[in-house]
Amino acid sequence: MSQEALTKFLEHLQQSFEKNTFVKLTLSKPDNKESELKNIYIRPVDLKNKRHYSFLYRYKTKDIVKNHLSDTAIPLLDEALGKDFLEASLFTTEQDLTLFYNKKRKARLATKAASHSNAPDTSHNKKKNRFIEAANSPYLYHLGISSQEGQILKTGQKKFRQINKYIEIIDSLLRQHPLPPSPKIVDMGSGKGYLTFALYDYLNQQLQIDAQITGIELRPPLVEATNELAKITQYPQLRFEAMDIMDYPADGVDMLIALHACDIATDIAIAKGIQSQAEIIIVAPCCHKQVRKSMNPEGTMGEMLKHGILLERQAELLTDTIRSLLMEAHGYQTKVFEFISTEHTPKNLMIVGMKGKPNPEAVRTIQRLKDQFGIASHYLEEILL
Ligand SMILES: C[S@@+](CC[C@H](N)C(=O)[O-])C[C@H]1O[C@@H](n2cnc3c(N)ncnc32)[C@H](O)[C@@H]1O
Repeated sequence: MSQEALTKFLEHLQQSFEKNTFVKLTLSKPDNKESELKNIYIRPVDLKNKRHYSFLYRYKTKDIVKNHLSDTAIPLLDEALGKDFLEASLFTTEQDLTLFYNKKRKARLATKAASHSNAPDTSHNKKKNRFIEAANSPYLYHLGISSQEGQILKTGQKKFRQINKYIEIIDSLLRQHPLPPSPKIVDMGSGKGYLTFALYDYLNQQLQIDAQITGIELRPPLVEATNELAKITQYPQLRFEAMDIMDYPADGVDMLIALHACDIATDIAIAKGIQSQAEIIIVAPCCHKQVRKSMNPEGTMGEMLKHGILLERQAELLTDTIRSLLMEAHGYQTKVFEFISTEHTPKNLMIVGMKGKPNPEAVRTIQRLKDQFGIASHYLEEILL
């Protein structure tokens, strides 16, 4: 009976692969309770136009993903079932099947009506719009964005869209302005590391670029948590350091990123990028306080900006305009754009600098703006002196 149940189960699995009705398979209940390996989650993925099966091996302290073709996937499962794992739940669009083993290793098969009506979309078109393959990105689960099986949670969808957009932008920048081999990348104000992990995974796992990424973050508990996750996901060249970005030595950085770093933290990050002559600098400013406090517009300009909200908005525009002009003055070609629609986050402006030739006119433009709007100081200008 035992062998019969397993054979039937594997036949159903094989058929679901052939008929494209396979949704997912989960192996649970490890035979050895002390085993470090707790589950295996299997999902279909299309890689290089060929159907593969992604095996996510969930260990106590790490996740490992391996992709197999069907002819290697089935023997692996045959080997594991009833030996390493005592339960397997197969979901197809035709029915749900569970293979159970009892304490005496006798197997039985239970079937239920299908709980999924559609096979997951692994089409090429869908992949084109998504830079992150959720089923192959276990860090998303650990960051609370996806389920254990790699499905994006409702609560994680906004963040997932944001991360995808961010990777899409970086991908396009790297095509325009490639980095040297084994680039050194620093993410300043890395926080919980959503974007840092996504970038590491994209560059090192997908593009196979041997990037070294360091996240700099002021808050030690976040640094501890992100370093722990880098161990779990087995990202050896990703590390996080607890320090003020001001103390980070500006040396040998190829790409400098600072997303949503508050107020002058964005200025410090830009200055570190310029001082280390980074090839690419990417910042998405957060709050803007410094310039507003140092503005004292007079005459018509004073009249125009007598209402607090207008002064605040004008100060934000001037802060970022002068940031991009200072980058140009120091030899960067800049782009300023909305990086995700305002419905996802109002902090959606991105300033990108790619190393090129200095623009001497930018210095004069900065001076004119400062005179016109009564700006006594811009923090970035001061720290670049
Ligand atoms: C709004 S969070 C953004 C996190 C992440 N970059 C993102 O976009 O998801 C800003 C982070 O920058 C950190 N931060 C602010 N000032 C900093 C400084 N001077 N040095 C290091 N980290 C800083 C904060 O602790 C916070 O975690």
